Amino acid sequence: MRKKIVIANWKMNKGLSEGLQLVDEIASDSSIRSNDVLKVIAPSFVHLASVADKLKNANGFAASAQNCHHVKNGAYTGEVSAEMIASAGAKYVIIGHSERRQYFNENNELLAQKVNVALANNLVPVFCIGENLTERNANQHLEVVTRQMKESLYHLLPADFSKVIIAYEPVWAIGTGVTATVHQAQGMHNHIRSEINKKYGKEVSSATSILYGGSCNPQNARELFACIDVDGGLIGGASLNAEDFIAVIKSFGS
Ligand code: 13P
Repeated sequence: MRKKIVIANWKMNKGLSEGLQLVDEIASDSSIRSNDVLKVIAPSFVHLASVADKLKNANGFAASAQNCHHVKNGAYTGEVSAEMIASAGAKYVIIGHSERRQYFNENNELLAQKVNVALANNLVPVFCIGENLTERNANQHLEVVTRQMKESLYHLLPADFSKVIIAYEPVWAIGTGVTATVHQAQGMHNHIRSEINKKYGKEVSSATSILYGGSCNPQNARELFACIDVDGGLIGGASLNAEDFIAVIKSFGS
């Protein structure tokens, strides 16, 4: 049985007190506190230690960074290393989000280095892949995500690849209100799992968690999470208020 996982990616939202209040509201909700879903919250770097501290005794919760720098340490003013993230108490780090690829020119080669420093610091990489609308319309979406995995992850030995969580986020669905259909999501997740199977074999591929992200909300999460190869969600907008985020967490079938 693969783990069910829901991750809140707050992106560049929430001040400190507002964010901590939201964490309190989510972590104290009795209907999700002891369910079997791993709940991860990814605030901004400056609030990471405070959020991680609040979650450290909350069963089934963990904190994540939204990014990390690709080298170990050094003269990189303004940057944040994987080691710093781990020392702040986070256990996860989102790597390769499409907003990082698009606005900060992060490419597959650089992202491979980020994956390496994350793993070297015992952080779980939540590795984001996904095609843009032009690629989808040109029917290139399958090869795009295959290339993203190949160039950023396939250098890993099976034991390290097994630690990675994959998040499929079609760029055209992020923040647009347009969600992938169940058919599109399951089709892609199945493709991703079969590619992992080709490279790492059945044991690894069947144990890899593959999350869906892109306008996932309380209205559509249930049907998305019911797909056989969808193991949970990476949630943006709907993670910014407790009611919606809790409803998404409760969207797994029994
Ligand atoms: P939205 O849920 O706002 O579409 O964002 C998805 C996302 O980018 C999560 O990382």
